[in-house]
Amino acid sequence: MNTRLRLVADRSATTARPPHEEPLHEEPGPGAARCLGLYAKLAAGVTVVTARGEDGPLGMTVSAVTSLSARPPLLLACLRDGSRTLAAVRSRRTFAVHLLREEQEELAGRFASPTTSAAERFAGTDTRQVLGVPVLAGALAWSVCLTEDVRRYGDHHLVVGRVAAVHVGPGRPLLWHDRRFGTLTEPVPGAAG
Ligand SMILES: Cc1cc2nc3c(=O)[nH]c(=O)nc-3n(C[C@H](O)[C@H](O)[C@H](O)COP(=O)(O)O)c2cc1C
Repeated sequence: MNTRLRLVADRSATTARPPHEEPLHEEPGPGAARCLGLYAKLAAGVTVVTARGEDGPLGMTVSAVTSLSARPPLLLACLRDGSRTLAAVRSRRTFAVHLLREEQEELAGRFASPTTSAAERFAGTDTRQVLGVPVLAGALAWSVCLTEDVRRYGDHHLVVGRVAAVHVGPGRPLLWHDRRFGTLTEPVPGAAG
């Protein structure tokens, strides 16, 4: 009798799992489509991230840009896997972030279009080199960053940049919310233009 009891106890010890090892399918996650619905509700400024590629300037529209630290000055951007701009940000170790003005919706669309070549994206916009990086004229603000870290998370890469140069100009920001461009409805205190 004692032996039988011990055998039963031993078998239950091998099949029971600690709570943190419970299989995930017992509480299924919300799925990518529902998460994208959540992300769409994040109101964000619209930026264009540029970098110098092998054959000339590269750039893409990015709304996933956030300030990270003031001392040292760091910001972060999330760039999709396979992006041409990301490859240059990685290899050249420098990039620029331009915060767009509310009048620059067309520019944002151009730098997001997968069928528009890099040269076409830059066509008609004055560009100069700052620390070897193409900087677009007319942005609300821009910074040139040294690539501090690039780390893959899921289908995007987290890029951390150390801010090496900054310019802040007049105007109001272009916004992205609910998969649409928008603008602030209230006047910006102290904003000219
Ligand atoms: C408003 C808006 C915001 C976007 N935000 C991002 C973003 O945060 N990260 C990203 O990887 N792509 C974002 N995209 C998509 C890229 O701009 C797009 O995939 C672009 O074609 C990539 O260019 P590349 O492959 O030449 O680098 C956004 C597009 C739009 C219209």
